[in-house]
Amino acid sequence: MIRMEQHLNLVEHPLVQHKLTIMRKKETSTNSFRRLLREISQLLAYEITRELDMTTTRIETPMGAMDAPTIGGKKLALISILRAGNGLLDGVLELIPAARVGFVGLYRDEETLRPVQYYYKVPDSLEDRLVIALDPMLATGNSSVAAIDLLKKSGARNIRFMCLLAAPEGVARMKEAHPDVPIVTAAVDEKLNENGYIVPGLGDAGDRMFGTK
Ligand code: URA
Repeated sequence: MIRMEQHLNLVEHPLVQHKLTIMRKKETSTNSFRRLLREISQLLAYEITRELDMTTTRIETPMGAMDAPTIGGKKLALISILRAGNGLLDGVLELIPAARVGFVGLYRDEETLRPVQYYYKVPDSLEDRLVIALDPMLATGNSSVAAIDLLKKSGARNIRFMCLLAAPEGVARMKEAHPDVPIVTAAVDEKLNENGYIVPGLGDAGDRMFGTK
């Protein structure tokens, strides 16, 4: 079982911070934005999987036999919170190709402002897997909290949340609702604006990675 003791885990590695700065610039192209997000997702995945349970397997090298380390337990589950989560998913999946993959789709009801589920498909046996929920932007925290609620209802007990950028408001909301779910992020920005965007942030992550408006 991965043990991450802090609720908020900042990845301050120079490569992550440098790439994030390029992503923030308004003139950065869709193509570069997507590539940088994939690269950062792999560096965040390196941190989030640091304490995975290990076991050994007997192998033969050209020189002889050894008990060599391998990752133990059931395959990880990567859960993309649509649609921006897909920008993190590709890179993490490249690094952990055997992972199982799920998707959670939520939209915001304009009257109640509450997240409403429109899609939900996750791997089986979530209770036995490390579950990594992926969403680049932890803003109000409403959709993240709702997504984690759904995953817990499906049995997940060991969940990590990976994002690129977080707002203090979103971190606080997650801590209140899901104190057992550590957050791994590249940065915590200053605040949310009145439209729920992270400031200074990088704009709408989905639009920037898919070239929509
Ligand atoms: N979602 C985004 O894509 N950007 C923000 O700043 C907040 C939420």
